[in-house]
Amino acid sequence: MLQMSEPPEAPVGVGPWEGPWPALESGDLPAHLDPELLAGGDRRNVLDRYRYWRHEAVVADLDTRRHGFHVAIENWGHDFNIGSVVRTANAFNAAAVHIVGRRRWNRRGAMVTDRYLHEHHHPDVAALLRWADGAGLPVLGVDNVPGSVPLERYAVPRDCVLLLGQEGPGLSAEAVRGCVDVLAITQHGSTRSLNAGAAAAIVMYHWALQHAADLRP
Ligand SMILES: C[S@@+](CC[C@H](N)C(=O)[O-])C[C@H]1O[C@@H](n2cnc3c(N)ncnc32)[C@H](O)[C@@H]1O
Repeated sequence: MLQMSEPPEAPVGVGPWEGPWPALESGDLPAHLDPELLAGGDRRNVLDRYRYWRHEAVVADLDTRRHGFHVAIENWGHDFNIGSVVRTANAFNAAAVHIVGRRRWNRRGAMVTDRYLHEHHHPDVAALLRWADGAGLPVLGVDNVPGSVPLERYAVPRDCVLLLGQEGPGLSAEAVRGCVDVLAITQHGSTRSLNAGAAAAIVMYHWALQHAADLRP
């Protein structure tokens, strides 16, 4: 009988810097590089161009080109999907993520990507709406509830807050009432809904097609 063995797991990232360390003319290490990572290797979940960069230097670089949309998520039941929403918000370089409801959220699926994002907490929907009003940002709900409009034909504003609901109940009634519009991703099968992580990725990609399709970092 053919014996299948598990393939050895490839280590993520890069090992210690090989050869002489990068140096400025003065001989100093460039400020964005982290001596600990150079010495020990960089196993973080970051693009290759950020290898060996200090954490603060990566955040500062992302800050120079954050997009205009914010991502907000209702967090009443410790939904495991929130981590995946946050990871996608990082991938699309959202202006910030907003946790609405419980302060503690399930970070597992975020794969540490939250450390490179700006995170805000709002104890309830009213607080998020006040914050968005103060920042001059329309809040757009994302859910396939009655009264929602199809995302596919919607011109999403460049600067906005995209508010997602959680697994199970979806957007709360208060959130639906407070949104300028609620956007529904048109479905074609039998399930009532997508999971929130998948829906978030679609809506962020839709935003990017409208506002960032020609931007390649
Ligand atoms: C699992 S859904 C639950 C709610 C859904 N309204 C229902 O009736 O089953 C969780 C979240 O994913 C997002 N979502 C799921 N399917 C969606 C769709 N077709 N369009 C827009 N958002 C969706 C919404 O943010 C929603 O609050």
